[in-house]
Amino acid sequence: MRFMQWLHRWVSLILVVQVVLWLISGFFFALTGHQGMSGHQYMVPQKTFTELRKVAAKVDFEEIKQWFPNAHSVELVSVAGVGQYQVTLPDDVIYIDANTGDYWSTDEALATRLALLSYSGPGSVESVERVTGSNEVNGWTDPGFRINMADDLNTRIYVDMASAQVVEHRNTPWTIADWAFRLHFMDYSGGRSFNHLLIWSAGLLALWFSLSGLILLGRNLINGDFNPGRKKTWLEQFQQQGHPVASSCGGGGTCGLCKVTLKGDNLPEPNDSETALLNRDELNAGVRLSCQHKVSTAYSVELADKAVSDTRLTLVNKRQLTPSIVELTFTSPGNLTYHAGQFMQFRIPHLNEVLIRHYSMATRPDLNKLVFNVRQMTSPQEGVPPGVGSNYLCHLEVGANVDATGPFGDFQLTEQNNNTQVFIGGGAGIAPLRSLIQAEQAKQQPRHSVFFYGARNEDELCYRDEFEAYDGVAYTPVLSETTKADGWSGKTGFIHEAALAWLANENLNAVDVYVCGPPPMLKATLKALTDIGINRSRIRFDDFGI
Ligand code: FES
Repeated sequence: MRFMQWLHRWVSLILVVQVVLWLISGFFFALTGHQGMSGHQYMVPQKTFTELRKVAAKVDFEEIKQWFPNAHSVELVSVAGVGQYQVTLPDDVIYIDANTGDYWSTDEALATRLALLSYSGPGSVESVERVTGSNEVNGWTDPGFRINMADDLNTRIYVDMASAQVVEHRNTPWTIADWAFRLHFMDYSGGRSFNHLLIWSAGLLALWFSLSGLILLGRNLINGDFNPGRKKTWLEQFQQQGHPVASSCGGGGTCGLCKVTLKGDNLPEPNDSETALLNRDELNAGVRLSCQHKVSTAYSVELADKAVSDTRLTLVNKRQLTPSIVELTFTSPGNLTYHAGQFMQFRIPHLNEVLIRHYSMATRPDLNKLVFNVRQMTSPQEGVPPGVGSNYLCHLEVGANVDATGPFGDFQLTEQNNNTQVFIGGGAGIAPLRSLIQAEQAKQQPRHSVFFYGARNEDELCYRDEFEAYDGVAYTPVLSETTKADGWSGKTGFIHEAALAWLANENLNAVDVYVCGPPPMLKATLKALTDIGINRSRIRFDDFGI
């Protein structure tokens, strides 16, 4: 159901974009009309510019018929006063010069003359080009001429060399209409057809969208979501009462941030979202997602993060940590306290709304400052804005304020034991891991720690000197876009593969593993760790709170 919800949302986005294109292009068609889109505004109807009078042919009609005994028809026509035999064969039409008996060939002067005979506009000939077919004339691939007219519509006239036919008139309104046609019929290859794979796929997507919408609607009806008297979820109740609860999916059951602990004898069974997002120990301890359960008096509920509060942070330092990551240091009025590995929920003003973004603290808690690592998101493609939240934060000036709520999260160090602490991270996932490693190393008896950190290249290795300087941390950077040929003598490839190679020689019952990084890396690492048999209760992860 979660996957259906997710897919339904993304398919709806694609379909909405296409519906907008249909509306715009359809509106354009209605306003422009057929004549306005044809490209024939200055075209004389074919019959009136073809000179139909008979001409004196030097090559006899009967002779031509003998040359082509299987011809369906042979017709003598006048091309600007010169005789031309049009011979229709079973699979072709050929054109013979009635004066010479040779295959017809149109020269530039004749092409220009024929173009002018077909033209009724105010312009004169601007230029003549030899072409072989044109993507402006569907299906025409033969040699010919393009006569460009100097007029208000930028008229182009195409003349076929072998037949001396005026193939088409094109102009600027036609070009605009052609693009509207492509958008309307999703015909981006220019095949002038609405019977193609893309439109079939769109049809199937629309069908899937409708069916999944009906299924989701049915589920909402069964849940009583449209009933004005329906019970609220715990998440809605807490939010209405002003209790801060982390959430980035708006109650959709996909982010896993809205954890609460239920206490009592009649706890509701975990649903699919909870079994996917919470581990067995959490479920056994009564942890549930507050967005997934209606308010009930059958049990009591404890917020996971009781020390959460709203706060206004002031930026006191900003530095470029790596080419893609900016380090921001804030102070908070009451020296906000937190546990290593926790995150804050930032409120980012954007247009007329407030966006919620989550960032983990990147230092141990006792330093009286809040340090965050923000990856500067670039625009995925031209015209698409870069990440709104990261861009906003990276462009704050020292002294600026930003509102936040927190701290949240239970990505924290395990209780003291003798296990090796294994940290695996990539990219901006360094932040909570660094906080955890610093906290571990600040203990009187720090546990032995191993840190595998993945980055694209050497320049992206955040805090490298710091990790290399720790006596109690075996630091292993792994680069994914660098090879030995680049002068790098360390490990290369995927971070989870390097970690797995090391774990292969370890006692898997004597490790606590912490993972944080971009979603694909996180997913691959968690799968690899469970595949080799590490108990889920020994694995802690943070999915950036996204
Ligand atoms: S709010 Fe996202 S899972 Fe509950």
